[in-house]
Amino acid sequence: MQAMPMLGRVAQFARKPLNEKWAAISATFFQPGAAEKRRVWRSLTGPHAPPRVFQSDEKLYVAYRPDSDAIFKQHPEISQLSQKWIEGNGIYASGDLPRLYAIVFNIKQVLAENIAGDIAELGVYRGNSAAFLAHFARASGRKLFLFDTFEGFDRRDLAGIDAPKSVEFADTSLDQVRNLVGAESVTFVQGRFPMSIPAGLHAHKFCIVHIDCDLYEPAKAGLEFFYPLLSPGGLMILHDYANPHWRGIRRALDEYCQGIGERPVIFGDKAGTAMIRKSARENGAPAL
Ligand SMILES: C[S@@+](CC[C@H](N)C(=O)[O-])C[C@H]1O[C@@H](n2cnc3c(N)ncnc32)[C@H](O)[C@@H]1O
Repeated sequence: MQAMPMLGRVAQFARKPLNEKWAAISATFFQPGAAEKRRVWRSLTGPHAPPRVFQSDEKLYVAYRPDSDAIFKQHPEISQLSQKWIEGNGIYASGDLPRLYAIVFNIKQVLAENIAGDIAELGVYRGNSAAFLAHFARASGRKLFLFDTFEGFDRRDLAGIDAPKSVEFADTSLDQVRNLVGAESVTFVQGRFPMSIPAGLHAHKFCIVHIDCDLYEPAKAGLEFFYPLLSPGGLMILHDYANPHWRGIRRALDEYCQGIGERPVIFGDKAGTAMIRKSARENGAPAL
């Protein structure tokens, strides 16, 4: 529905009886929270508001923070760790709060359900998402395994659907990541995945796996290795699934899903993250 133009609203106001005029004035200016509502409304009708934003190439929009965070303060770790989310990656991460919320809410859901196992990430780069995983691993008494070359893409993975790509994410290091993420409860596995997988990990259990490696070959290998090790009710997060820039990710997950009878749920964050909760029923996972 279209908002009434300002002149129309003034004319409508002028036609009201005096007592209704006063009620409208006091409702607008003297009600508790009225100033705050006006401030929010100004943002919601500004340059980053719909429908203007949808009808243009504008990359930013205005959105509410989840009530559970902004009003009910149920996620204090988000503000505590927020600097780590954007450290060295501000231009992307600062504007991708839907991704952060989706990751945090779903991790907390899995942990609250006491799904068994450790946490892993394939594709760490500078450690921005890993810093959050490390926090939740420590808070829940679990281990975190971080897999990366810590030197960017391996050229051997730039084949097939990824042949047109070139090496990226080389501007990081293991030391830089260790400084941001911290070493407590964290195992850093450096090298090209899947060749880098330590022998002892093949019989491990995971409750949360975050795959964010951009390319088809490691994503496929990551699904093949981690999905069977995911506990019933465990969470698989795949960044970039609905991102046409990294087409190999959708291909890897679609192919893998055909064999396991699961389907992705897709989030409206910058890169179209997909998630799967591994089916719990057949395997006797604890009821909610
Ligand atoms: C987009 S970055 C990860 C970003 C990080 N998860 C975050 O949210 O801040 C992708 C990472 O995947 C890593 N990667 C890609 N292919 C890999 C492979 N075969 N083995 C290990 N790491 C790989 C790259 O080195 C790069 O650091």
